[in-house]
Amino acid sequence: HAFVVEIADGTEIPVAADQTVLDALTRAGIRVLSSCQEGVCGTCETVVLEGEPDHRDHVLSDEERESGEMMMPCVSRCRGARIVLDL
Ligand code: FES
Repeated sequence: HAFVVEIADGTEIPVAADQTVLDALTRAGIRVLSSCQEGVCGTCETVVLEGEPDHRDHVLSDEERESGEMMMPCVSRCRGARIVLDL
């Protein structure tokens, strides 16, 4: 599903259903370091301030996943309508 990513300064970036968070951020001119873009390297790890990530990476441990404190925006998404990232 589509949802909205909000960054620390309050800017809202829509993420389409067929688009990654990383792609939406990059197109909006927000730089996030990335490498594999497949959820395996951990380079794009980003702190989650609010909202519930839908984890699809192969990097985080079960505990980290459960905490909801970080996500890999190259593959992971959002469970609800909005997620706030520390960018
Ligand atoms: Fe490798 Fe996101 S770029 S996990």
